[in-house]
Amino acid sequence: MSDNELAFEPHDKVAVITGAAGGIGLGMARAFTDAGMSVVMTDIDADRVEASAAELRSAGHDAIGIQTDVSKLDEVQALADAAMDTHGRVDVLCNNAGAAIFAKLYNVSVEDWEWTLGVDLWGPIYGTKVFQPLIQQSPDGGHINTTSSVSGLIAGAAAGPYNVAKSGVIALMATLEREFRIAKSPHRASVLCPGPINTNINRNSVNYRRAAKGDSEAGSARPDKAGKKLGSKMGDFLANGMDPDEVGRIVLDGIVHGKFWIFTHPKILRLYHEQIAMMDADGSLSQGRLA
Ligand SMILES: NC(=O)c1ccc[n+]([C@@H]2O[C@H](COP(=O)([O-])OP(=O)(O)OC[C@H]3O[C@@H](n4cnc5c(N)ncnc54)[C@H](O)[C@@H]3O)[C@@H](O)[C@H]2O)c1
Repeated sequence: MSDNELAFEPHDKVAVITGAAGGIGLGMARAFTDAGMSVVMTDIDADRVEASAAELRSAGHDAIGIQTDVSKLDEVQALADAAMDTHGRVDVLCNNAGAAIFAKLYNVSVEDWEWTLGVDLWGPIYGTKVFQPLIQQSPDGGHINTTSSVSGLIAGAAAGPYNVAKSGVIALMATLEREFRIAKSPHRASVLCPGPINTNINRNSVNYRRAAKGDSEAGSARPDKAGKKLGSKMGDFLANGMDPDEVGRIVLDGIVHGKFWIFTHPKILRLYHEQIAMMDADGSLSQGRLA
């Protein structure tokens, strides 16, 4: 049996999903509970995550909502403690919370680097650090999935911190998966690389960035002209994107079948093929335009 054939049985298992108040995280929670899992849904937005968990409970599912800022280690530890107190086990972690701002590198402040990497890179690092030992207690196998992006494979212009974080989490999950394999562990890691998905990530990111700064729009950290142009182009692009509930089902399928790479829009991989071909041909960087 190849590693990819190793299956995970979701029924009666427990998943912790970050960034689960809406969008892709809520899509995962819906798909996982439909497959008989219990979900611990967590988000920085306490009211929205509780409302989403309540929606699942009213449909007869086992779901709780907990507020966590994934960029803070003590809050991620408190989340793990709460999940263990409630269920006594955690089988699956989805490091999905994320945020993005768009600006050329020259205009990205150190503050915005720290904020973006805090959520998008340190969040998954803390999640993996805290939850891996718990998931490994499960003898039937378990899974850590992290949401990257096609931006993690092809770094486009005007999204530097996001690209760096999303590339970093691919390396994090690939390292973990290789370590599981070397240890002949029944546990698995994977990375979700979504293309355009119809969520509110743009608006949410602007709001959380302001909140992280104590509300001000002050400083040189505002999205610049190139960033605003890309942001608005991305807004239109995402509005026509895939339904996040479909992404949830794709992730569940990937976990159940022990896949490492989970794509929503495999055709976008042509950008990666282009890059590999140019690396081989003359070592040049491709255009890498996503939108
Ligand atoms: N929408 C897309 O097209 C797309 C494409 C590629 C990758 N992604 C990734 O998918 C993931 C989910 O995004 P989405 O599109 O569903 O957007 P979303 O805004 O609906 O979901 C992200 C969630 O993360 C939460 N969050 C933000 N900062 C947080 C923090 N510090 N701690 C805890 N929670 C926090 C937000 O409140 C939000 O509910 C993100 O990692 C994003 O980068 C999205």
